[in-house]
Amino acid sequence: GLAPDLAGRHVVVSAGGTREPLDPVRFLGNRSSGRQGYALARTAVARGARVTLLAANTALPDPAGADVVRVGTTVELQDAVLKAAADADAVVMAAAVADFRPVTYVTGKIKKKEDRDPEPIALTRNPDILAGISADRPRPGQVVVGFAAETDDVLANGRAKLARKGCDLLVVNEVGESKAFGSDGNEAVVLTAGGREVPVPYGPKEALADVVWDLVAESLG
Ligand code: C5P
Repeated sequence: GLAPDLAGRHVVVSAGGTREPLDPVRFLGNRSSGRQGYALARTAVARGARVTLLAANTALPDPAGADVVRVGTTVELQDAVLKAAADADAVVMAAAVADFRPVTYVTGKIKKKEDRDPEPIALTRNPDILAGISADRPRPGQVVVGFAAETDDVLANGRAKLARKGCDLLVVNEVGESKAFGSDGNEAVVLTAGGREVPVPYGPKEALADVVWDLVAESLG
């Protein structure tokens, strides 16, 4: 992907993982490093795009040439996506998004009580950002891409998720003990809404990113 085939395009990429605070020192979160999203941002810059990177709790240096917006929670990420996607040609949701958040945020640190079992943590659903923008595109004709981490029945679950979310492309990763999270490489299958399956062999996260941008560019025409 050396050709500037994304010149004149605005792409939005989310990266990292959202965190839902319980109290000032604790949160519900996940193990996403943000590396795949950052690889998507770097490769899109290299292909000529204007890139907005929505970074959720990452500890990576800002990619040169991208506009970086930092977010914490799922609701903050949703606000940032809706704002950035208004004039975007493509939205790629590579972030691992917390599906639930605690019902209440405790303003002082939750104390351990020596003689009592802990209170259960009540959770409520977060909005599904990907399903929301797929159903109601902020800009007509924009390409929406999701990611899915599956541990079993990867293709069947991926195909069902693509249909459920309503996105154009779904990058399906098989995850396990040592796969994908925090590693330099990735292996995936990209499913298209048109029924194609594009396998991407194990390799650098940039290689998978370039396959995604190839398909996005093709879809944009
Ligand atoms: O349903 P699941 O979490 O497996 O879907 C993963 C995809 O959906 C990712 O692209 C993720 O960024 C997106 N997602 C979202 N909002 C949520 C949950 C997931 O946009 N609440």
